[in-house]
Amino acid sequence: MPQSDPVFYIGTLPIHGNLILAPMDGYSDMPFRSICRDMGSAMSYTEFLSAIDIIHTHPHLHLRLSYLESERPVVFQLMDDSPERLVLAATKLMAYKPDVIDINLGCSARSVSSRGAGSGLLRTPDKIAAIFSALTKTLPVPVTAKIRLGWDETTRNYKDVVQSLQDNGAALIAVHARTRQQAYSGSADWDAIAEIKQMATIPIIGNGDVKTTSDIDRMLTHTRCDAVMIGRGAIGNPWIFQRLDRSTVSQKMVQETMSTQLARMLPFYGEEVGLRLFRKFAVRYLSPYQEFNDIRGQLLTCTEPDYFLNLLDAFLDHPLTFSTDL
Ligand SMILES: Cc1cc2nc3c(=O)[nH]c(=O)nc-3n(C[C@H](O)[C@H](O)[C@H](O)COP(=O)(O)O)c2cc1C
Repeated sequence: MPQSDPVFYIGTLPIHGNLILAPMDGYSDMPFRSICRDMGSAMSYTEFLSAIDIIHTHPHLHLRLSYLESERPVVFQLMDDSPERLVLAATKLMAYKPDVIDINLGCSARSVSSRGAGSGLLRTPDKIAAIFSALTKTLPVPVTAKIRLGWDETTRNYKDVVQSLQDNGAALIAVHARTRQQAYSGSADWDAIAEIKQMATIPIIGNGDVKTTSDIDRMLTHTRCDAVMIGRGAIGNPWIFQRLDRSTVSQKMVQETMSTQLARMLPFYGEEVGLRLFRKFAVRYLSPYQEFNDIRGQLLTCTEPDYFLNLLDAFLDHPLTFSTDL
């Protein structure tokens, strides 16, 4: 299929689209990412990878580092607050041939941010500068950042952070437009994304509260960002990358996509774990149907993939009542 013109570049890397699946721990694994990529997500961010785990070759890491060639450009997202550890870990990861290294400056989990990593880095701009200066001098691939607006309402230092990232060689910034204190509450401040886009000389990805195709258009118009990143709104709804609203997706399409995702998860994780991990996706795919409650218990306790698929096919074969406003 002929490729469209690039929408923007990360360094010299062309990106052929303006919708991107957000990195999400526990969700953006290879099976789900590759489905979103097939549907139109323009690149693939891994779930966050701990630099310490990489340095010590933690056994669970190989799954988090796995990707399909068709997912390229592939972004490995790293989390730590030490420039030395990040350089060591990122250098080690070059053997896996990522297209981009991203640093997480947004994770709000207390266990991460209170030790200075994730959004904790927003409180130490000098460390941000040191990390990006060291990484961009060492790595042969572009280095990008995913940030929040600041630690809390009184320290919304995003303009200083963006300036420092740019000055130290960052090639792109994704902005989740909330503070660390907000976690996921309140609404994302799209005005701040617009402000960042206006001052930035590198591409800016807007992120926060995009759930529908009209949200996509509103964010692009409101902020002028180069691309829109979608997280929670894509779980159980990868068709958003085809610019389809969930209410227009047929039951047959749901059945096909769920079967494809499960078929990728079973060999990836092994049958038992794969089916267990698929349950949380199944809930999100099926909860828009009022009748889901009738088979919920049976489906979510099923431990046999073929039986699960038979139940699913039988359920989606009958006309169902769609009941969300997505
Ligand atoms: C379950 C979950 C896991 C997440 N894991 C990560 C992560 O590993 N790295 C990261 O940068 N952000 C992570 N995030 C934040 C999302 O990438 C995104 O910034 C946030 O959900 C806001 O976007 P949304 O409103 O489209 O969901 C996670 C969010 C959720 C809900």
